[in-house]
Amino acid sequence: MEISSLHIENFRAFKKNEFNFSPFYNIITGKNSTGKTTILEAIYLTSSGKSFITTHLLNCVSFDKQYFFVSLIFQDSLRKKNIDILIGNGKKEIQLNHKKAKGFFEIIGTLPVIFLNYKVVDIIKGGPEKRRNFLNHWLIFTDPSYYSELSNYYALLHQRNALLKSINASKELLSVLSDKIIPVGEIIQQKRREVISLLNDVVQKNLYKISNKNVKMEFIYDSSPVGKLAKNGIENAEIQRKRTLFGPHLDELEILMDGIQAREFSSLGEAYSVAFAMRFAEKESIMGKRGEMPILLMDDFFSDLDETRRENVLKMTEGGQIFLTTLNLNIIPKNVLDKAKIISL
Ligand SMILES: Nc1ncnc2c1ncn2[C@@H]1O[C@H](COP(=O)(O)OP(=O)(O)OP(=O)(O)O)[C@@H](O)[C@H]1O
Ligand SMILES: [Mg+2]
Repeated sequence: MEISSLHIENFRAFKKNEFNFSPFYNIITGKNSTGKTTILEAIYLTSSGKSFITTHLLNCVSFDKQYFFVSLIFQDSLRKKNIDILIGNGKKEIQLNHKKAKGFFEIIGTLPVIFLNYKVVDIIKGGPEKRRNFLNHWLIFTDPSYYSELSNYYALLHQRNALLKSINASKELLSVLSDKIIPVGEIIQQKRREVISLLNDVVQKNLYKISNKNVKMEFIYDSSPVGKLAKNGIENAEIQRKRTLFGPHLDELEILMDGIQAREFSSLGEAYSVAFAMRFAEKESIMGKRGEMPILLMDDFFSDLDETRRENVLKMTEGGQIFLTTLNLNIIPKNVLDKAKIISL
């Protein structure tokens, strides 16, 4: 998988710019607020339909403009592809290979991208939704039906919760919705279980490659079995609490390092290393399932790692297309600099 060019218009501080990339390392450098992160944000948008900075895509429109336009050309093992996104002027237009898409759902999953910045540590230190997001991202790019199953699940959950919030929630309607949501939730939980078993196989090895330390890693799925919605009596509690009390939206993934809970007790450096090891496990799984290396976006992450870990992480990125942003080219090892395309802003 390789991005050959990016065209952006009215996207944050960029008015109209065209970038061409190397299939290997691309190092984006420049002083603060020159737009390094913005380039990664534009690429990420074409992969996920989201920004990693804002939940409101209109915030990406340049302050004095009415719309932004992002156009990306990339290549998988089969052919050249194109994603175009125009947002603003009251419109949202998305095109895949110059054909109009009905929404982001038609392009999500097409371009596998893994984004790493200082917030990667949230996978370990943040709330359960960060770990659910991690599992979802992995599955969206390795399992072609996962995204629609997940969207379907959330649409049903939304309906069910709306019913539970209404004054006279009908138990009959509730059980109709339970019958619909349970099988979808079970598929999601089964797929997450499979990813977790891969984490148990791979993360410990990756962590050793990053930190040169042997730590016993365990990933435990604390699932909230959606099947329990079929049990008699749950509805009363749900009506009282006005929300659905079981299902994959409440799942937790517990991470243990040498038997100790990583979320509470790991140091920041350890948490970074484990999060990287998990992201690299995802990268390998995407490679294995699709036969395509995902694109890595790394935003200024080097500042949080010591030199050895930095070099170890860089070694693990080899073989695919990588975008790195940095304020300081001096911290990039010479062997990487020599083969990289440097984009100076
Ligand atoms: N909607 C917008 N319209 C115009 N400019 C914007 C908009 N949103 C953000 N900016 C500007 O874009 C710049 C931020 O760009 P970006 O975060 O990409 O910089 P950076 O090179 O990554 O900086 P740093 O080294 O500090 O991380 C800021 O100066 C910000 O004010
Ligand atoms: Mg930045």
